[in-house]
Amino acid sequence: MGKLEGKVAVITGGSSGMALASAKRFVEEGAYVFITGRRQEALDEAVKLIGRNVTGVRGDAANLDDLDRLFDTVKREKGEIDVLYASAGMGEGVPLGEITEQHFDATFNLNARGTLFTVQKALPLFNDGGSILMTGSVASIKGFPGYSVYAASKATLHAFARGWLNELKGRNIRVNVLHPGPTATPMQDQVLTEEAKQMFESLIPRGKMGRSEEIAAVALFLASDDSSFVNGVELSVDGGFSAI
Ligand SMILES: NC(=O)c1ccc[n+]([C@@H]2O[C@H](COP(=O)([O-])OP(=O)(O)OC[C@H]3O[C@@H](n4cnc5c(N)ncnc54)[C@H](OP(=O)(O)O)[C@@H]3O)[C@@H](O)[C@H]2O)c1
Repeated sequence: MGKLEGKVAVITGGSSGMALASAKRFVEEGAYVFITGRRQEALDEAVKLIGRNVTGVRGDAANLDDLDRLFDTVKREKGEIDVLYASAGMGEGVPLGEITEQHFDATFNLNARGTLFTVQKALPLFNDGGSILMTGSVASIKGFPGYSVYAASKATLHAFARGWLNELKGRNIRVNVLHPGPTATPMQDQVLTEEAKQMFESLIPRGKMGRSEEIAAVALFLASDDSSFVNGVELSVDGGFSAI
C-alpha cells in the first residue's frame, strides 16, 4: 500500500521542478493531486507526464481570486484535502542599493502573502490529521549577496508555521517548512549563470546540486504519516550545504 493511499493533495507551482517531481511521487504513492501553475501549456505537459489521478488548475498563487478558483475546483471534484504543499515561489537576485519597491512587492506577494492565503483558503477543506508543507529555501538561513529580499520572504514561512501549528493543534494538522538547497530545476537554469552554478556546487560536500527527485522524497516524508511526530521544523535538504 502506498504512503498516501486515498489522500488528496494540492501542490501549488506543481507544473515544474521539485513540486512536479513531488506530485508524480505522491501519485505513485496512491494520492490524487491537484497541481497549479500560471502557464497552461506547462500545466498540460505536467498532467500528461503524471498520467493519472491528477487535475491541473491554472492560476497565480499570488492572486486571491485564482486561489478561490483552485479551492472551488478541489471542493467540487474531491471535497477534501489531506496534504497541502505550498511550493509556488520566485527568487530574483537584487543587491542592497538596487532593491526596488517592485522587486520587494513581487517577491513578498508570492512567497509570503501568496503562501499565507493558499494555506488559509485551503483550511475549510482540510481533514483533521492533515499535513501542510511549504517550500522555503536555505537562502533564508544563509547570507547570499543579492538575495536578502528573497531570503526574508522565505524566512516568514517558519514564523507562519510556528503560529499555525499551535492554532491548528486541535485538528492535529502539522505544518513544516522544507528548505531545498541548490537544486537543478528549470528555475535554477533561468536565474543562475554557469559560474554561479559552479560556485554553489563547490559549496556542496558532494560537489553536485540536488535533484528534484531528492526533494520529492523528503516532501513525501513530510506529507505522509512517516513524519507524524515532526511538526514545526525547518528541514534543510541540501547535501550539507548549510551545515558547513
Ligand atoms: N531550485 C532551487 O535551487 C531552489 C532552492 C531553494 C528554494 N527553491 C524554491 O522552490 C520552489 C520551486 O522552485 P523550482 O526550482 O522547482 O522552480 P521551477 O522549476 O521554475 O518551478 C516553479 C513552478 O512554480 C510555478 N509558479 C511560479 N510562479 C507561480 C505563481 N505565481 N503561481 C503559481 N505557480 C507559479 C511555475 O509555473 P508557471 O511559471 O507556469 O507559473 C512552475 O511550475 C520555489 O518556491 C523556489 O523559491 C528553489
